[in-house]
Amino acid sequence: MEELLDSAIEILHRKGIGTPDCTIILGSGLGMFTKVIKNPVIVPYSDIPGFPSTSVAGHDGALYFGDISNRKVLAWSGRFHYYEGHPFDRTILPVRFANALGCNALLVTNAAGGINYRFRVGDLMLIDDIISLPVKISLHDQRFHQRYANDDLVGDVTRLAASAGISVTRGCYLYAKGPTYETKAEIRSFRIMGADAVGMSTAAELYEAIRLEMSCLGISLITNLATGVSKEKLDHSEIAEAASLREKDLIELISRLIADEDSPLYKPEYRFR
Ligand code: HPA
Repeated sequence: MEELLDSAIEILHRKGIGTPDCTIILGSGLGMFTKVIKNPVIVPYSDIPGFPSTSVAGHDGALYFGDISNRKVLAWSGRFHYYEGHPFDRTILPVRFANALGCNALLVTNAAGGINYRFRVGDLMLIDDIISLPVKISLHDQRFHQRYANDDLVGDVTRLAASAGISVTRGCYLYAKGPTYETKAEIRSFRIMGADAVGMSTAAELYEAIRLEMSCLGISLITNLATGVSKEKLDHSEIAEAASLREKDLIELISRLIADEDSPLYKPEYRFR
């Protein structure tokens, strides 16, 4: 792994990729953020040694390195899911690569199903805790339990969003393996467990960032109400619809988190040490 990282980093440097202030993994249907990155260097995943290609609709499989105001951002458009057959060690490669490039702040976005009855399609949920019971992800060490209960960071980001006129909510993200959506009984039990939203990614990426002592925040776009919460039938097309509802807000929020002088993402106290 270390050798693979070294040779890939060398190739990325040669392509003009330097040290990002922040890295962001863009979820299904949320790749539009790449449009606002200035002076981008774009590298298809297929040009990065050791990188698999992505196979999920709505993911373009490329990294973008460029400017948001005076910050450097490294955006991953397309992620690797465990349900596609990738081991967890591979699903976290974007985090490892970014960290090897010298980056200490991670944003993760995803599409998720709303479990909490108060949630509506189009809500932006800041992830303040994680449940990942079905597969206990234990990648490299045992410190995950320390927390991903990012209360103060989530509070700061909520205030930042409010100052930009963007409403956000917060809640606990439950990782479910997928690829099928959940049954009604599963969603009922997840609610009793304390979950507010469910999705098929993100947990391992945040855990890896914690292990690497980065600051990190996950943002879920509620693209549908989870099975049984509403009577609507679920399919993948809702993701694009919900994304278009909140595209502007999400881009604005992410841009501020990356670019603001006093963004909470860069506060030393929010790095997991
Ligand atoms: N369940 C799991 N993952 C999801 C959902 C859902 O309802 N919506 C978007 N990703």
